[in-house]
Amino acid sequence: MSNAVAVVTGASGGIGEQIAVGLAASGATVIMVARSYERLSRAAERVGHAFPGAGVEIDPVDLGDLPQVRALAERLIARRPSVVVSNAAVIAPLDDRTPAGLHRTLAVNHLAPYLLLRLLAASPPDCARRFVVVGASPRGLARVPVDLDDLNAETRRGLGWPPSFRPFVAYGRTKNMNAMFVYAMASRLAGTSTTINGAHPGIIKGTGLGRHSRGALKLFGSTLNLFTPASDVGAETPLWLATDPAIEGVTGSFFVDRTATGTAPHTTDPVRIESLWRASARLVGMPADDVAPGADYRGR
Ligand SMILES: NC(=O)c1ccc[n+]([C@@H]2O[C@H](COP(=O)([O-])OP(=O)(O)OC[C@H]3O[C@@H](n4cnc5c(N)ncnc54)[C@H](OP(=O)(O)O)[C@@H]3O)[C@@H](O)[C@H]2O)c1
Repeated sequence: MSNAVAVVTGASGGIGEQIAVGLAASGATVIMVARSYERLSRAAERVGHAFPGAGVEIDPVDLGDLPQVRALAERLIARRPSVVVSNAAVIAPLDDRTPAGLHRTLAVNHLAPYLLLRLLAASPPDCARRFVVVGASPRGLARVPVDLDDLNAETRRGLGWPPSFRPFVAYGRTKNMNAMFVYAMASRLAGTSTTINGAHPGIIKGTGLGRHSRGALKLFGSTLNLFTPASDVGAETPLWLATDPAIEGVTGSFFVDRTATGTAPHTTDPVRIESLWRASARLVGMPADDVAPGADYRGR
């Protein structure tokens, strides 16, 4: 990928940093995006040490702030990236709201990639371009369908018990939105030189995802950490989707361990997918650009 520009969001640590390492190893100039300048700088230094001479840049952005996402899109359009990996995510407390009143989990995990990739997609690439959206386990997420009447977790309906798990359920819903967005976007990009696929990185230890966890959820996370692999393993499937020539042209699918995997029926229903698309458009202030329900959602 020499001369290519690749972007990774959520690259200041965890799985995103390892995706950046892999992209730098492939010869791409890597633009690492996350919120904290300090954490990003340290991560970029580590990538630079792993691959002396690698082209590594940082672009600090709070993806929970949609005007900042729009500004990022403008900067990236000028760089014409051939790979964009949307990896940033957070499990925020339910009362953690952005200044626009959005639940931070919804804004960072779903609305930011929705807005960023839609804006980038509107600018045709010079050559083949790949979007990769890092989601989560289709099996685990089957139990937490998106509540299309309460995307912003206002009512807290159906978030279950115990209360310490509720932010995790709200997070799970946004991860289902990732798969639904991949299918909706792929149907709109069909026939273009841009592909989009989703990936579950695996259950991975030692990342920052559980930093706001409390009570039973914290205990659950610590127990999982005893048995799960590290971030470099989590980076494998997203990196493969971003770089491997063997999947050139493949689009609209969701992958686990490099294998196309079905996601829950509530994520593949065209009516639900288009309803999420329209509601997301309203929340980010874009036209919906409707595709009729029943459109060809490929790769499911
Ligand atoms: N770890 C797992 O077991 C697991 C399982 C399934 C799916 N995943 C998915 O894998 C991806 C990576 O997660 P991870 O485990 O590596 O978590 P992580 O270590 O917490 O990494 C999340 C990244 O997102 C960034 N981020 C968070 N809020 C942001 C904001 N408002 N603006 C910009 N960047 C922001 C963080 O950087 P700053 O805080 O510096 O901004 C960090 O770089 C996520 O999509 C997650 O849903 C992880």
